[in-house]
Amino acid sequence: MVTRADIENMYEKAKTAVVKATNLQQLDQVRVEYLGKKGKITSVLKTLGQLTPEERKEIGQAANKIRQNLESDITDRQEELSREEVAKRLAAESVDISLPGRERVYGHRHLISQVIKEITDIFIGLGYKVAEGPEVELDYYNFKALNTPADHPARSLQDTFYIRKAGVHPADDDIVLRTHTSPVQIRVMKSQEPPVYIIAPGRAFRRDVPDPTHSPMFHQVEGLAVDKGITFGDLKGTLEEFSRQMFGRKSQVRVVAREAFEAGIAEDGPQIRLRPHFFPFTEPSAEVDVRCFACGGVGCRICGSGWLEILGAGMVDPNVLIEVGYNPEEVSGFAFGMGVERIAMLLYGVPDIRMFFENDTRFAEQF
Ligand code: DAH
Repeated sequence: MVTRADIENMYEKAKTAVVKATNLQQLDQVRVEYLGKKGKITSVLKTLGQLTPEERKEIGQAANKIRQNLESDITDRQEELSREEVAKRLAAESVDISLPGRERVYGHRHLISQVIKEITDIFIGLGYKVAEGPEVELDYYNFKALNTPADHPARSLQDTFYIRKAGVHPADDDIVLRTHTSPVQIRVMKSQEPPVYIIAPGRAFRRDVPDPTHSPMFHQVEGLAVDKGITFGDLKGTLEEFSRQMFGRKSQVRVVAREAFEAGIAEDGPQIRLRPHFFPFTEPSAEVDVRCFACGGVGCRICGSGWLEILGAGMVDPNVLIEVGYNPEEVSGFAFGMGVERIAMLLYGVPDIRMFFENDTRFAEQF
């Protein structure tokens, strides 16, 4: 016969099992063991009928009490375990907001592209259109049509990379990497009637050994204006306006220039200076200097003389106009070509042209 002590003993064991259950399944096993249909406590309650009325009262009360207690113990433990399980799951899934974030690296235009865009924007503002031509070019467009025949001494200044020699290609012409952007002039004039107002930014190639001021690949911006009555004065005025916008005091927020502006160096008078020169495709021709943006023309470590050479220019040679089918009696024009790297180096104080193409991000991200 079960005694009250037996029941209390049973309860103590059950309580220990409840506490020891580490998950809901184990806890349910404990419940079945004691409170299930065939459970230990249930069995005690089932045998009450065989007892005397006094025993029944005593054992019955004790067993019922313990059943209730155990039920509530199990419920409490159930809640506890559920909470623990949720907490565990959350901990496994949670994001640690104190961890450093993943940095997103944003790119931007290369300095050369920035300067090309600046130059291009100025000429677009003056009514010019942007034209393009191939980097792999026929000798005809690169030299011959620009009044530079095969035996012309000016060719040696622009020795180039020959892709294929004459006689192999159907056009029976040498194929070269263009040595300047000037062939775009010919292509544009051959494809349309005057008036022409274009600029042509792009890559050019020369067989130069790389050094601080030479690179076998570099960039130019070409310009061409052909119309009725174009004069050398138009060329000067256009380049003066370009230089004011590109290098003038108003546009100067650049590092090298700042000191000079703060020193209040005067910068009145013309922005450009022309020196006679020779190019096969222009007559007359000039080399154009811009007033030094750093010292305002006084002379400093950047310019030496107060002036910086930035481009070649001239009046389009009548031979070139005839070559493209224009009538030099009706129209005239000017042309110019500038080196983008040189301008970028001057403006931003870059000491070596090779830095532009080494692709070191520590350099590129400074601009
Ligand atoms: N093509 C010349 C060079 O690369 C630069 C140049 C000079 C372009 C005079 C022109 C020009 O259009 O008129 O050295």
